[in-house]
Amino acid sequence: MFECSAPGKLILFGEHAVVFGEPALATAINLRTSVTGSYSSEPMINGRPLREEKDNYVKAAMNQVWKGKPLDLTIRSSLPSASGMGSSAAVTVATLGFLTSLDGTFSKELIAKTGFEVEYEVQGRASPIDTTTSTEGRAVFLTKEKDKGFLWQIEKDDKSWLLHARDIPRMKIVVGNTGIKARTGPLVENVRRLVSGDKLARQTIKEIGRITLEGLKALREDDLERVGKLMTSNHKLLGTLGVGHKLLDKYVEVSLPLSYGAKLTGAGGGGSMIALTDRPEEVAERIAELGGKSFVVETEDRGVIVDEG
Ligand code: PMV
Repeated sequence: MFECSAPGKLILFGEHAVVFGEPALATAINLRTSVTGSYSSEPMINGRPLREEKDNYVKAAMNQVWKGKPLDLTIRSSLPSASGMGSSAAVTVATLGFLTSLDGTFSKELIAKTGFEVEYEVQGRASPIDTTTSTEGRAVFLTKEKDKGFLWQIEKDDKSWLLHARDIPRMKIVVGNTGIKARTGPLVENVRRLVSGDKLARQTIKEIGRITLEGLKALREDDLERVGKLMTSNHKLLGTLGVGHKLLDKYVEVSLPLSYGAKLTGAGGGGSMIALTDRPEEVAERIAELGGKSFVVETEDRGVIVDEG
């Protein structure tokens, strides 16, 4: 039997501001989730019956595309869960990749669009950047205007996102995870409340959008010094929106002397930060000394792939 795998992701620039229509940039990383399987008498995962709650992404993915006989799926992942590294997108995309390969309907666009629906259903809200990045690989740029590298448009209710592929330099990135699980929904809601009543917060959102565009330009010019400075500015701005955390600030602070720059990634309020550095092992060690879980990852070109084995 073949296997299908999909990468995790990191948001490099633009989280939270993207909710207000500003651009965002994410990259795929070299930690993956793989899915294979065989027919079985009832739906199972790794040899045990599918659980309603815990297996919600896989279950929703199955419901979206699978009309065949029950399967026992074997799922392996090198992505820690709830770490801001896109483990839910990777398991969703790898599952959809496996199922659509099995029934002959595999297409990246279908997987990215269905993957978004799955995340939306399970989380109650989602932007499509995680699932498209896991599907496409490389870097994914989300904007409101069509640009070069256009992949597909994803729509939900009154919202519409245009997703684009971007090639960025190969980079090592340190991820520092606080171990604090903050829910994305309430964090987004708090920012929305702040932005609706505060002119300064609205300017901050615009400024993050500007930083994202400049960050993308700096990446394409391979100007890591500039990228790092922009990351650190983005981090400070996210802090003023109330989505920071003192541990994230500490990890950023100890990373900076050894890094081009550092920032929180994803929803914040806990979760993870990233540091761009030529000295990843040392930065990872400093974060670990503060009690954080640290990982050294690399940017990744491959999105969802089928491995005939
Ligand atoms: O939780 P993550 O890593 O997928 O990031 C959430 C990013 C937000 O901009 C805060 C929300 C969103 O849906 O874009």
